[in-house]
Amino acid sequence: MHRPDTLMEPEEVAAAFDELATQGKVRHFGVSNHNPMQIKLLQKTVKQPLEANQLQFGLMHTGMIDEGLYVNRKETQASERDGEILEFSRLKNMTIQAWSPYQASSVKEVFINNDRFPELNQKLAELAEKYHTTPNGLASAWVLRHPANMQIIAGTMNSKRIEEIAQASEIQLSRKDWYQLYLSAGNGLP
Ligand SMILES: NC(=O)c1ccc[n+]([C@@H]2O[C@H](COP(=O)([O-])OP(=O)(O)OC[C@H]3O[C@@H](n4cnc5c(N)ncnc54)[C@H](OP(=O)(O)O)[C@@H]3O)[C@@H](O)[C@H]2O)c1
Repeated sequence: MHRPDTLMEPEEVAAAFDELATQGKVRHFGVSNHNPMQIKLLQKTVKQPLEANQLQFGLMHTGMIDEGLYVNRKETQASERDGEILEFSRLKNMTIQAWSPYQASSVKEVFINNDRFPELNQKLAELAEKYHTTPNGLASAWVLRHPANMQIIAGTMNSKRIEEIAQASEIQLSRKDWYQLYLSAGNGLP
């Protein structure tokens, strides 16, 4: 179910999901851009487990990680915008599906091989060589390395890029390299 709707009535959703399940039209149910309380509200009446939540996540859109790293601090990164959705998803075994993983959130453009992000691209190039992959593969491996066991939703229609992205499932970034990439994307650590 795409994006929260403040006029949503859980009983109505439950009836629709039951119909879809009974008809065999949908076998797995999920939501997109929902926070933990919205999921709990739905799950009060919806009997099918909500298995996935699509959320924007990638090297340049890291809010759900930032808030966890800045707990109890005054910096803006400490702002709870997503209701600790990362930890909630792990607790409930809900799969986060990372959408627009190659987009810079502030400017809505792909950051890979983009001159506007020199530090990140330098690190991507350096580590791509180390891990025998490409910047695309590495940016994907960065998402997949998180123990929340996320899935990537890539929008590209380019078969070479799709191949590079798929190969990322074979790459295991070290913790140090993972954090170096996080920092080179303009993030800080407390
Ligand atoms: N649930 C939600 O709220 C939500 C919101 C937005 C999107 N989505 C889903 O997420 C999917 C991905 O979103 P997206 O298309 O915005 O994200 P994306 O995979 O980060 O971006 C893909 C776009 O960037 C282009 N691109 C250029 N250089 C690229 C590179 N080096 N690597 C990868 N892509 C490059 C691709 O064009 P080429 O084809 O030329 O490679 C494609 O147009 C969508 O298909 C959609 O289904 C869900």
